[in-house]
Amino acid sequence: MKISIIGSGYVGLTTGAVFAEKGHDVLCIDKDINKINRLKKGVVDIYEPGLDEMVRRNLKKHRLSFDSSIEKACNFAKVIFLCLPTPPLPNGMADLSFIEEVARVIAGSISEYHLIVDKSTVPVKTGERVKQIIARYSKKGVDFDVGSNPEFLREGSALDDALTPDRIVVGVESKRAELIFRDLYKPFNANLVVTDINSAEIIKHAANSFLALKISFINSVAKLCDTVGADVKVVAKGMGLDKRIGTEFLNAGIGYGGSCFSKDVNAFYAICRETGVEFPLLKEIENINADIRQYFVKKIQQELWIVKNKKIGVLGLAFKKDTDDIRNSVQIEVVKLLGDLKGIVSCYDPKAMKNAKKALKEYQNIAFVSGPYEVAKGADALAILTDWDEFRRLDYSKIRKLMKTPIIFDGRNILDPVEIKKAGFVYRGIGRGYYEKE
Ligand code: UDX
Repeated sequence: MKISIIGSGYVGLTTGAVFAEKGHDVLCIDKDINKINRLKKGVVDIYEPGLDEMVRRNLKKHRLSFDSSIEKACNFAKVIFLCLPTPPLPNGMADLSFIEEVARVIAGSISEYHLIVDKSTVPVKTGERVKQIIARYSKKGVDFDVGSNPEFLREGSALDDALTPDRIVVGVESKRAELIFRDLYKPFNANLVVTDINSAEIIKHAANSFLALKISFINSVAKLCDTVGADVKVVAKGMGLDKRIGTEFLNAGIGYGGSCFSKDVNAFYAICRETGVEFPLLKEIENINADIRQYFVKKIQQELWIVKNKKIGVLGLAFKKDTDDIRNSVQIEVVKLLGDLKGIVSCYDPKAMKNAKKALKEYQNIAFVSGPYEVAKGADALAILTDWDEFRRLDYSKIRKLMKTPIIFDGRNILDPVEIKKAGFVYRGIGRGYYEKE
């Protein structure tokens, strides 16, 4: 099937490459001509494991092409996916101006049936708005459908999540649109959940908010574990073995970051408020998430007493492992807090250094060094903030010799407290109070 994708960012490019990989014929559009010219040469600016190879493979097979014209997209395929930015407005509502603008251009470019599918994360009732806009701006009598097909991609595992999804959600208003989706997704052999458009849009916001809720819940439990001397990892395991709860997303730490969770929780809260539905739990998810990073920095202050002029090594700046992305990175916020306390911070991240340097450039007391052992040199304390696998495998006896005082703050609970204490460190985690009793 021919498919056009408008917006060749993280979601659009991943979606286009995966559709091509599954045998469809895909045209990806973007208004950034330089980006399109790089993509035509197989140059992928996004760091996502496997994405550049998949793009190049399908370019070679002529199943994937790139352009900057929306009109071409409308002529190329009957199915058009909108993969456009929906950034947060100051009031938390999603900014839908990119979607509205593209919907108007599509309306003026179609003269026969098209299915226009929203894949961007949007508040409920956006599909209705897109339908109104296309009906208003298209030539009289042009037949079309709108649909919703939210994405559930995680950075670092986006291709897997797209190729072997737990489920594919499609929101439709007609049998015709449903049959097109069934045809499109046949090669995926996945569980296709067909709903109305509003329900599909709510599934996305509700799913992401629930995942964020799990994280804020376990982070609150972690504070209790610290206080009474229990171990949140054991608590999470004991909870998660109940199939109704599940063990995933119960890893306590300095909280969630990334371009989606906070944005989606706040957008969900805003659309509920706009429709007159009270949903205070969503506010609390965000409040807890904002608090846990302060809690972590307080733990550092409790241990060091004075942070000012102390050398603090920081491992991890990306919002999670296997990405260079620092959007809404809690790690960056923690480094800023340490910088504000006038600590002498030296940072390392396997992939996010370039992005982090830009974000932290106004701090004179924050340095970026070549590796984890460099970070440890002369450090009064070491803070692990991102769960990169390489930080689990470091030679901690070597780290200990390099540090001035062997104190580790494990912001993602990735180390084994028994081993670390045996290696001569003072260990502080999040919710690992059981191991912190002197
Ligand atoms: C998330 C959703 O998982 C995905 O379905 C949606 O499409 C986009 O948003 P992403 O933000 O890429 O994906 O990463 P995710 O793996 O969900 O992690 C988000 C944040 O939560 C990271 O900062 C991570 O460190 C944190 N996290 C995750 C925890 O603190 N504890 C956990 O148990 C899991």
